[in-house]
Amino acid sequence: MTTVGLVGSGSIGLAIARLAVDAGHRVVLSNSRGPATLRDTAASLGPQASAATSAEAAAAGDIVVITVPVSAFPHLPAAPLAGKAVIDVCNYGPERDGPVPELDSRSLTSSELLQRYVPDAFLVKAFNNIFVKHLLSLARPSGAPDRSFVPIAGDSAPARATVTAFIDSLGYGVVDAGRLADGWRQSTGTPVWATSYGPFSHERGRPADEATIRTALALATR
Ligand SMILES: NC(=O)c1ccc[n+]([C@@H]2O[C@H](COP(=O)([O-])OP(=O)(O)OC[C@H]3O[C@@H](n4cnc5c(N)ncnc54)[C@H](OP(=O)(O)O)[C@@H]3O)[C@@H](O)[C@H]2O)c1
Repeated sequence: MTTVGLVGSGSIGLAIARLAVDAGHRVVLSNSRGPATLRDTAASLGPQASAATSAEAAAAGDIVVITVPVSAFPHLPAAPLAGKAVIDVCNYGPERDGPVPELDSRSLTSSELLQRYVPDAFLVKAFNNIFVKHLLSLARPSGAPDRSFVPIAGDSAPARATVTAFIDSLGYGVVDAGRLADGWRQSTGTPVWATSYGPFSHERGRPADEATIRTALALATR
């Protein structure tokens, strides 16, 4: 059993927490407002879930999942993330996050920006390209003919392996999309982002196999 620390427990964070609990993992939820605001949510996930501060969730996790707006990056707890495999689910949206010149000019990916704030974490970008409701509805066990895949990008091979095993336990295969700097291939608006799993209006989504994800990644342009 893995303990998963969630830094950010909104829409996508709670979907990952639900899949993690269903897979038998422990989850520690956190947000910006404190654990008291998450107690009912944690209770609804069952005895494997608890609520904590974001620093406590980061410290508790064997794996930590960051699901916050990019504008929250400067406020994340860096020290407890040191040396850990950390999944970066975040996407940049200037309308929500405010303009970030390095991201607008594409000289930096949002994961590389995040790395500046959590320099000793082993970041792996994953799950940023799938809508929350499709993430929940498309999870399938290993070997299922309609299993979906997601791209992952990260610099640490051990962290990529840890994250691959975790994602497998949640119901997805992975396609290795390269280093953290290659994460632009799966960022907002790219071919692999969201629509690989069908339109947002499609309630249950459409499975996307390994070849579909590889092809979509290869079609990305900067
Ligand atoms: N929704 C999707 O389908 C989806 C899919 C892929 C990727 N993403 C990306 O994932 C990220 C989260 O999206 P979302 O839709 O889940 O947003 P959301 O529902 O607004 O949730 C954001 C979460 O981040 C927390 N947060 C904000 N600042 C924080 C801080 N300083 N420390 C700890 N937690 C903090 C919020 O807590 P409070 O409520 O207490 O402020 C909230 O729990 C975004 O970057 C988004 O682009 C979303």
